Amino acid sequence: MFDIPFLDLPPLRGASGTVRLPGSKSISNRVLLLAALAEGETLVHEPLASDDTQVMLDALRALGCEVQPAESRAGGSALRIGGLGGRLRTHEAALFLGNAGTAMRPLTAALALLAATQGGRFELSGVPRMHERPIGDLVEALRALGCDIVDLGQPGYPPLRVQGQAGGRLRTQAPIPVRGDVSSQFLSALLLALPLVSEAQDIVIEVQGELISKPYVHITLKLLARFGIEVAHEQWRRFTVPRGSRYRSPGAIHVEGDASSASYFIALGAIAAHGGAPLRIEGVGSDSIQGDIRFVDAAQAMGARVQAGPGWLQVSRGAWPLQALTLDCNHIPDAAMTLAVMALYAEGTTRLTNIASWRVKETDRIAAMATELRKLGAAVTEGPDFIEVTPPARWQPATIHTYDDHRMAMCASLAAFNALAGRPASDGPGLPVRILDPRCVGKTFPDYFETLFGVVSADAQDVPVITVDGPTASGKGTLAAALAARLGYHTLDSGSLYRTTALAALQDGIAPDDEAALARLAALLDLRFEGAAVMLRGRPVSDELRREDVGSLASRIAALPAVREALHSLQLAFRRPPGLVADGRDMGTVVFPDAALKVFLTASAAQRASRRHKQLISKGIQANITDLRADLEARDARDRTRSIAPLKPAEDALALDNSALSVDESVDVVLGWWQQRRPFD
Ligand code: C5P
Repeated sequence: MFDIPFLDLPPLRGASGTVRLPGSKSISNRVLLLAALAEGETLVHEPLASDDTQVMLDALRALGCEVQPAESRAGGSALRIGGLGGRLRTHEAALFLGNAGTAMRPLTAALALLAATQGGRFELSGVPRMHERPIGDLVEALRALGCDIVDLGQPGYPPLRVQGQAGGRLRTQAPIPVRGDVSSQFLSALLLALPLVSEAQDIVIEVQGELISKPYVHITLKLLARFGIEVAHEQWRRFTVPRGSRYRSPGAIHVEGDASSASYFIALGAIAAHGGAPLRIEGVGSDSIQGDIRFVDAAQAMGARVQAGPGWLQVSRGAWPLQALTLDCNHIPDAAMTLAVMALYAEGTTRLTNIASWRVKETDRIAAMATELRKLGAAVTEGPDFIEVTPPARWQPATIHTYDDHRMAMCASLAAFNALAGRPASDGPGLPVRILDPRCVGKTFPDYFETLFGVVSADAQDVPVITVDGPTASGKGTLAAALAARLGYHTLDSGSLYRTTALAALQDGIAPDDEAALARLAALLDLRFEGAAVMLRGRPVSDELRREDVGSLASRIAALPAVREALHSLQLAFRRPPGLVADGRDMGTVVFPDAALKVFLTASAAQRASRRHKQLISKGIQANITDLRADLEARDARDRTRSIAPLKPAEDALALDNSALSVDESVDVVLGWWQQRRPFD
């Protein structure tokens, strides 16, 4: 997950490969709640792990449910939920539900009914935005039933307290009216909860106004059926929860991939899978019970070429540019946001209607989408329940606000393909896109950007590189790692490649002057990076690489042209989206001469010797400062005077002497330089 203030996407140009989708949010939270209410144990396979499901799980645990991690069939994750069997185990709790409507609405309904009949006091609250998202129509319906619900803030919005005495009775004889035109979650919440109190008689719900987002109600009905409750409905207006309903665990249940999350990759395929191979999406397919799977039809209407089977989709570009579309999006409210971004690549004006519910989601999505697409250069008209998007005549580099809305962030990522807009080939200039607070994707798809970067391609020269060169022990590695962490970029510690070659040479007994043998060794290095760990020949060697004898040998063999040549292409391969911070001696001069920012880091020899000394002592290694300094200076001299790729600042490098700076101070200086070189405000 990118837990950073902003993420800059370089211009992207292609997509291919396979993505595996995380579990559906809507299904996960419904299944978790049903499993918690049911009698017995339910093994939930591949539930979504995200902010919204986490708050649901925390709430269920607070209510006394047993939740245990388990192994899933396909090696994926699973949760074992011990159900309450409809009986409250805890009668008082304060539940924090973040910004998860799929937790707030059904838990309010279920706990209101349980408190009213079994006694209890439960407070439900969320983040500030949650307290602006309406729940009044659901509360009214529950009050009509006889539930006692106290508004703890603004009436009609969370936070709320639901309370009651044991033995309380509910008015379940008359049909319960509920509005259907603000959020279908009110109806879903009632449907999920009412079986708790329907032992004695049928309970009827009557929907007032047009029911929006029917597909989500369809998911609710399907999942209730899996838990043994068959709800009948007449034309989506009158729903009957039958008398004697009891939640029965299905034993095991599988959560399919999230169809709304699929929309970003379907769009990605339609825009960028133009190289022959399609983009394959695994986790949802033709057998999906999620309404957003119908996004496929809309994407096809815009030009996507889609093949579908059970649990999979394959998407590639069909028409290009895409075709503009006018569509009533009531059936795909969430995925429709993705169409608004596809519209940037369409010929003509795309009009999405019947999307009033966008205004009461994580943010006012109509306003947010209009504002952000305009920043990119698009012409946008918005109304109370529609949006119209005309592609940019000229694209602008934009800093996209995401409003703590995961879908805004994921949508925005698709703007990074602007180099393809309106062009048959992919050779136009492109612009980067800055996405603020990318962490907000954690609501439904924590690894969204990692997944995206796994299947997209960029031109190497479009992928920004920051180089940090300098002498031994100047703090390059520390600075580079900190910069990369802040920007979400990859790192290349080029010294580790020379060190690894040196270690392998020591292991194999290759003489330090056998240039040909050393070059062969370097070219064929069995080297992998696993997070921070360096693996040589399948073994972690990070500690051995820091050995002084390895460092010394590295500096000797680094003077051999054939060794440098052998490691060259390996280093270039680190330049991948979203960007790279590379540290070493010749990053700015030889390997990445076109780097967007080059830093030459120095510190006095005394400082460097003292830092290395502290480092060694902290690891329990005895060392002598005078010897260390002599060794550093000898290595520097060798690096500076060698004929090939000598250590020196690139002509366009900015010098930073960090002798008197903390790491944070150095990072701030360099980030300041970096901001100045970016095209964003
Ligand atoms: O940076 P580090 O001390 O890990 O590098 C080990 C040795 O590799 C250095 O002493 C230097 O001689 C060599 N090196 C190089 N070019 C680089 C990085 C390291 O010559 N880009």
